[in-house]
Formats: sequence, structure tokens, C-alpha cells
Amino acid sequence: MIIGEITSVYGIRVKGRFYEKLPPYMVKNSNVFLGPKINSYVKTNVGLVSVVCQITGEEVSVNDKNQKILELNVIGSIEKGLFSQGLRYLPLVGAKIRLFTEDDYKSLFVSNDSMNLNIGNDLFEPTRKISIDLNSVIPTHIGIFGNTGSGKSNTLTKILQEYLNIIEDKRINSKIAQTLLFDLNNEYGDNAITNLQNKEVIKLTTQTQSKKRIPIDYSKLSEDQLGVLLNATKKTQMPIIKRALRNMKGEFDSEQKINSIRWAIINCQKNAIYTIRNELYKYIMGLEDFQFISGRSNSFIDKSNTTVDFDNKKHFDFINDIEHQSLEKIKVIEPKTWLERFEFELIYSVFQYATHGNNLEFVKPLITRLKNRIKDFNKIFNESENEITSLSQKNIVVIQLGQVNQEIRELVPSIISDLIFDSMRKNDRSKGIKQIRNIVIDEAHNILKPSKESNDIASNSVEVFEKIIKEGRKYGVFLIISSQRPSDISETITSQLHNYFIHKLVNKNDIKHIEKTVSFMDKRQIDMLSVLGPGECIISGTGFIFPMFAKIKIVDEVNEPLSRNVKLLGDEGIFSNKESKKIENKAFDPF
Ligand SMILES: Nc1ncnc2c1ncn2[C@@H]1O[C@H](COP(=O)(O)OP(=O)(O)OP(=O)(O)O)[C@@H](O)[C@H]1O
Ligand SMILES: [Mg+2]
Repeated sequence: MIIGEITSVYGIRVKGRFYEKLPPYMVKNSNVFLGPKINSYVKTNVGLVSVVCQITGEEVSVNDKNQKILELNVIGSIEKGLFSQGLRYLPLVGAKIRLFTEDDYKSLFVSNDSMNLNIGNDLFEPTRKISIDLNSVIPTHIGIFGNTGSGKSNTLTKILQEYLNIIEDKRINSKIAQTLLFDLNNEYGDNAITNLQNKEVIKLTTQTQSKKRIPIDYSKLSEDQLGVLLNATKKTQMPIIKRALRNMKGEFDSEQKINSIRWAIINCQKNAIYTIRNELYKYIMGLEDFQFISGRSNSFIDKSNTTVDFDNKKHFDFINDIEHQSLEKIKVIEPKTWLERFEFELIYSVFQYATHGNNLEFVKPLITRLKNRIKDFNKIFNESENEITSLSQKNIVVIQLGQVNQEIRELVPSIISDLIFDSMRKNDRSKGIKQIRNIVIDEAHNILKPSKESNDIASNSVEVFEKIIKEGRKYGVFLIISSQRPSDISETITSQLHNYFIHKLVNKNDIKHIEKTVSFMDKRQIDMLSVLGPGECIISGTGFIFPMFAKIKIVDEVNEPLSRNVKLLGDEGIFSNKESKKIENKAFDPF
């Protein structure tokens, strides 16, 4: 349907005029056409090709108040029903402007139907569905940004729900495709996203032992990962961890350890002995009886309160005697699990460090940290030799971290993601990638904030995810991150995401950050970010021909995440509950 003509073309700046004022809807040959308006699409022919333009502005002609002038942006062209982006064809002055047909829309927005995620509708043409191509979005890194309450969790839920529907439909094995969601605020339990029977929810807590724990093979952790777990300082504490790991390589040799301990006693290595006596009492027996005399470096008192003085050669025979009595009683019990052995070897390394006359002041905190971590780890992990990638038979695993302490909250996503990355990296890729893992982090600013320190948990967390964003694609590992503060997330991460769903953003820094890191959006789209309503967003990136404005479908109540706005009055409002009514204080009656 012809509605006007092109009046000027200066490079990509194109103007046109309407022949007449048009109503919002028109019917021609029993087809319904939507009237043109800002952000909608029109086309103009160049030979057999249709050039697609988006209406970006409208104004009234200075000369004729009834004449409407249009500003148009060229987006691409449709040739033989296929849309391609770019400026290969530009409109011609005088060419007719035509309304978009249903087929034109299809060539822009719809690919193979069964492989689409139907996530919502065109913001400006609400009758048009927006469906996105599974292949161009799911195997990519995705960012969902927007202020609090702008609809990120709903968008994330909708995308995952649509994806899982396809997986369910095609009965894809969890080994082939699994999504792992780190749920920092326990929003995605119960039936959120998909019904409980279709997913694995692991609700971690550090308050008591978690009911379901994550199987972990600690021996797969690298030296660096262990260093991070223990917040070890590079200069003094890291070497202790390295020594502990070296010691772990061989069989556990109790005899050799007992001999070293005896040597330390005879040589009055008080700090060394006190360290293992206090910290390894579960594994080393028989040290309780020894005391060292202050101010005298070459003597100790044994159980029978006999002072044994090594300076006095006369006592040599007596020492032999003591060896039979007290030194001979020292026993070392072999630790059973990997974590217990590591605890033993780490403290034993501190002991060895002390026997070389080193000051323990800077090393001792490592032991305290180790003990606390082990306590926490035992609450959330259980030692298992299974690969982390076989965490569950379900296609989606939700790891809830709302009830764990801050350090564990920061640690768990990076440790698990790193193990998944490592295990996917070991897959044989000679026949192409055969498995996919999507790692999802809602409220990602909490764990992807660049750290000021160079070797702490936060900086390692960021490093792990930076590695995944750079190399994950090659191994089938993809990130979906959602955040209300994109400017707080490492730029390496935000700038390398492939696809973006950007909801309302008002903070200038966040908008600037998006402008700087998202290369797919122009100034006009950036300007619109601050006026979007809940659930409205701009979708942009490698999976889309051009940025699209969408209103995401709201998820069914049964499957919605636990993130509803607080309602005070009306149906289900918290002020409407009976319990919320004040209990009237009875007047004080002393009798
Ligand atoms: N597509 C939508 N259409 C209509 N309402 C929506 C849509 N998406 C979200 N909402 C409403 O907005 C509220 C907040 O949505 P949501 O929890 O998804 O926001 P959020 O961006 O994740 O917020 P936060 O950063 O605080 O987690 C919800 O109560 C929901 O009802
Ligand atoms: Mg949310």
C-alpha cells in the first residue's frame, strides 16, 4: 500500500512525505495494515529490492501545515523474501513509500518457527510477536541489564523457560545441555521458570549443614584456586600451600612424620610443636605430655615432670630412656578424605616452616582461615570423585546462595564455573562441540565487581568469568548475566557479551557504560533507555539484525520468580491481610 514518497537522500539520512494523514489501522483487500508511526517500518523499492527504513522522526512541513515530513533510517533490504542488514541499497528520491506487509515483518523477525524463543511483542506494534532464534542467542554470552524492578528477572525467566520448553520437547539429555543458575537471593526455587519436577534445586546454607550438597572433587582444584579459597598472600602463605600440595603427591608416610616431630621436640622447636599440638590433635597423639621450659632452649619436661636437658651429656642414656617412654608414644593417624589430608598437610607445612626458624606471625592466619573454610565447605560440599558436569540429570540446576555467608557466596559460583569450564575444555572437540553449558548469574554485580586487591576472592571470581567470556564459546560454555548496575561489572565482561536485553536504566554511569561497551546501539536507542516501562527493553547484539524494542511477556504466576513488587492495598496487598490489623491495646485497668 503506497502512503507517500521519498523527498531527500543524503547518505543514510533520508526524508519522505505522506500523501495524506493516515489512521492507526487500515484495511485493504481484507488485509489489515498498521498505520505508520515512530519506530515502525516502511519500505521503498529499488528495482526488485525493497529497502527497509525505520521511521525515526516526524514533523509538519513549514510550507504546508497539512503535510507531514518523515525522517527515516535505512536498516537493510529485502531481496527475494530474505532480509539482509546494511546499506547496500539506498532509497531513490521520488520513489514511493509503502507500508510493511505481514510477509515483510516475517522476513525481519521470524526464522524457523520451532527453533524460536517467543519472548514477547514488538513494543511499538504490540500485535507483532517477537521471537528470537535459538541458535543465535542461547549459544552466546548474554547480558540483561536494567534498574531494580525494570523486569530483568522476568526476562531471564522467560528466556530460560522458552529454551527449556524446546529442550523438553526434543528430550535432550542433561549431559548434552544443562543450565546452571546461581541464585543469589533464592528467587528461583519451587516452580520458578519450570515446575519443580523438571529441575534440581540445591538450596545451600552455611547456618547448618545443607540438605542437598554439591558433590565436589577437591583434588581437581588448582594451586591457585586453593590459594583463593584460603585468601592466601602470595609471598608468605602461597609457598606453604604449594608445599602442602607437594607433600600430598606421595603416599602418607606416618613414620617419617613421627621422626620429624621427635626431632623437633629434641631440638626444642617450641612453636612448631605447639602448632601441631593445638591444630592437629585429631591426627597426632602423644604430644600433650611435653612442655618446654621458658628461657631454656635445650630442655623439655616430660609427663613424669622430669626435666630433660640436652646440654648435659650425662643425660644421653636417659634420653634414650625417654624415647621409649614419651617420644615413642607419639602416633600419627592418617587422614581419610582429600580435604582432611589437605588440612593435615597444610598445618604440617606450617610446622616445617617453623622448624626452619621462621616467624609464624604471618602464616598462622592461614590455619584459622583453613579451619573456618573447612567448616563451611562441609556444610555445602560433599567430597565425590564425580565430574561436576554430572551434577544432576535435570536440564536446569538452581544453586541457591541466599543463606550462605558472603565469602561462600562469592566463592561458589566461580569455583563451580571454573570446574565446569575445565571439564568442558577436556572434551574431545575434534568432531565439533557436542555439549552446551549455560551459566546464569542473576544480580551479577555482587560477584563480578572488579576488585581493588589483586589476589582476593573477588578478583579471582572476576578472572574466572573473564576467562569464560573470552574462551567459553570454543568449549560450549556460555554466560547469562543479569544486573542492575552494569557499570559495577568488569568491563572485560560487559563488552564481550554477544547479546543484550537492556531494560530501563536511569543512572548516568550505567547508561554511559552501556554506550561505551555495547557496540550495537545508536544514540537514539541509548536515549530511550531512561523512559522504558517495566518489562520493556531493547534487544540488541550479534543474534539480531538490528536493535529491537520489545515488551517481554510476563511469566505465568506459577512459574514466576520470587521477585514481585510489594503491594500494600488491594487483592493480596499486605495491608489487606487480617494478620496485619493492629491488635487494639485494651485500656489499662489496674483492677
Ligand atoms: N514484562 C513485564 N510486563 C509487566 N510487568 C512486568 C514485566 N516484567 C516485570 N514486571 C513487573 O515488575 C516487577 C519487577 O520485575 P522483576 O523482578 O523482573 O524486576 P528486576 O529488574 O529483576 O528487579 P531487581 O533488580 O530488583 O531484581 C514484577 O513485580 C513484575 O510484576
Ligand atoms: Mg531481579
